[in-house]
Amino acid sequence: MALRDILTVADHTAILKQKSAPVDQVDDALRVLMDDMLETMYAAPGIGLAAIQIGVAQRVIVMDLAREGEEPRPQYFVNPEILEMSDEMFVYEEGCLSVPDIYDDVERSSRVLIRYQNYQGEQVEEWAEELYAICIQHEMDHLEGILFIDHLSRLKRERAIAKVKKARKVP
Ligand code: NI
Repeated sequence: MALRDILTVADHTAILKQKSAPVDQVDDALRVLMDDMLETMYAAPGIGLAAIQIGVAQRVIVMDLAREGEEPRPQYFVNPEILEMSDEMFVYEEGCLSVPDIYDDVERSSRVLIRYQNYQGEQVEEWAEELYAICIQHEMDHLEGILFIDHLSRLKRERAIAKVKKARKVP
């Protein structure tokens, strides 16, 4: 496993805005990518990471929503799709490893029915609720080149990007 660099909006907005391509098959090469992504996410630390955040434009996400003190619970999502989403919404203060140290409220569906392939390449269909629902919607946005700050007002978004760029320049 290897740690990969996480791209941020300070320097890599163009890459982060790319749309990711579907994965043909879940093979050992893809599992190496998923292992690297998980290690990189844990090291950050974060609870979710999309492949485009390390510069790989493939529809792959890793996540671990275990709380502190709980056993790690890594989850892997290949080619995830949302089949249904609740009308009921949920507001959560989100952050993103590609927009470091910025947090703001985003409203999303509180339940989503998702279909994806897991680490073994098996197809899974399940309802995601609460933090799981929020997180998978946030990460799936990355696959479309959308960041959580794109859900904010233009003013807030520009301020966030300026703040990240300024923070980067401090040695
Ligand atoms: Ni993110």
